[in-house]
Amino acid sequence: MAEEKFVMALDQGTTSSRAIIFNKKGEIVAKNQNEFTQFYPQNGWVEHDPHEILFSVVSSMIGALREGTVDPKKIAGIGITNQRETTILWDKETGAPLYNAIVWQCRRTADYCEELKSQGLSDYIKSTTGLLIDAYFSATKIKWILDNVEGAREKAERGEVLFGTIDTWLIWNLTDGKAHVTDYSNACRTMLFDIDNLCWDEYLCKKLDIPMCILPEVKPSSCIYGHVAKITGIEDLEGVPIAGAIGDQPGALFGQGCFEVGQAKNTYGTGCFLLMNTGEKRIESRSNLLTGIAWGLDGKITYDLEGSAFNAGSVIKWLRDELELISSAAECDELAMQVEDSNGLYLVPAFTGLGAPYWDMYARGIMVGLTRSINRKHVCRAVLESITYQMTDLLEAMMNDSDIRLKDLRVDGGASVSNIMMQIQADMTGCNVNRPKNREATALGAAYLAGLATGVWENTAEIEANREVDKIFIPSMPEEKRNKQYSDWKRAVERSRNWER
Ligand code: G3P
Repeated sequence: MAEEKFVMALDQGTTSSRAIIFNKKGEIVAKNQNEFTQFYPQNGWVEHDPHEILFSVVSSMIGALREGTVDPKKIAGIGITNQRETTILWDKETGAPLYNAIVWQCRRTADYCEELKSQGLSDYIKSTTGLLIDAYFSATKIKWILDNVEGAREKAERGEVLFGTIDTWLIWNLTDGKAHVTDYSNACRTMLFDIDNLCWDEYLCKKLDIPMCILPEVKPSSCIYGHVAKITGIEDLEGVPIAGAIGDQPGALFGQGCFEVGQAKNTYGTGCFLLMNTGEKRIESRSNLLTGIAWGLDGKITYDLEGSAFNAGSVIKWLRDELELISSAAECDELAMQVEDSNGLYLVPAFTGLGAPYWDMYARGIMVGLTRSINRKHVCRAVLESITYQMTDLLEAMMNDSDIRLKDLRVDGGASVSNIMMQIQADMTGCNVNRPKNREATALGAAYLAGLATGVWENTAEIEANREVDKIFIPSMPEEKRNKQYSDWKRAVERSRNWER
């Protein structure tokens, strides 16, 4: 009998880092998680300490190994998945960061983005990178560090500085500085990467004054990037290949087994991220969705379409922590279940503006349709519905852009545990909502990519066979009712728009 092999996934997210060890069936055999500090130095600014991130990742690796369920010698490879766009610049010799990591949520470069738009760069950026100009992506964050940290630009021009998203930072450190690399899915979120020609774009780098020598080498998402160096606490992993890297959202698409053109997944976290596999063809969005590279595998590139809602799980938290209407997410479900609908109440959770397909930074949250008969059960129901309406907006846009009618939406992430919300999601979109038993899709995606490069799995068919369905939610709402509710939602969205102007 062949010796059992395992894969370790490192899931470096926005608020915590996790190490999860999977067996060949894709089951979790050990897991450890560590949170780290969020810094908000100014209104709208968000930073992380790169060393604390690294420490939290290594601590999770130690924690997972300490569970003692897996012999470290049987770990065939390590896969990394990460919060995307978050930007770090560091000294090539000493490894010391020049500045904190500027997190994807940070809005400090919003004005500069407006300037880029007024220079007429929008079309070029969209056609080259698949993205819209926004402070979300890494490019303007890199520029900010080069322009604002004393001596940074001179040092970078002398070739003494390296840039990386979190995957790059982790791989560089875990290999003791031997590999300065990233994968296609992370590179395409920098706003500097040409997603057709698969290279850094010289014109954009010049335009933003970013020396190209700081950029990492871009590689497929499943390949051997390097080997773990001798590191205190994880000495047992010395020599293990780091063999997978992928941004967390495409990671979930891979982990959900969405290998066919037109398959899509939605991850319900603080926000929601909907991604559709569009295959070897890049699809241009007419609805302001983003086009990106999901992964590079076996010499092929798989493209995706992506839409996100900034507020999803955060709306339930708001209900609990700010309005204090509920004491837990489960209570929100229980209350919402006791009513048939929201009794005409609509909540648009545009707390931080609206993302795709509206892209309205000036929208703000509203509740509309309040009458004397609205009670807190209706409010809870309206909260859950608001999350599903946002995803319906994105899905409709995606189906229009791609001319693909989706039959089955795969779901994961913490909030996908809510049966009632998943049922409403199915009712609103009119397609089946398919929830797997293992909802750790992001980490699983990274593990699979690492396992494919190290022979744990032979091909994606083997991976697909691992996916076990927990529950399929089938649309059951009469069409007339659905259409009425959805068009009222659209009216509510219009009322929330342009509020901050
Ligand atoms: O684009 C940002 C996204 O990758 C962050 O995901 O799950 O860390 O909030 P998450």
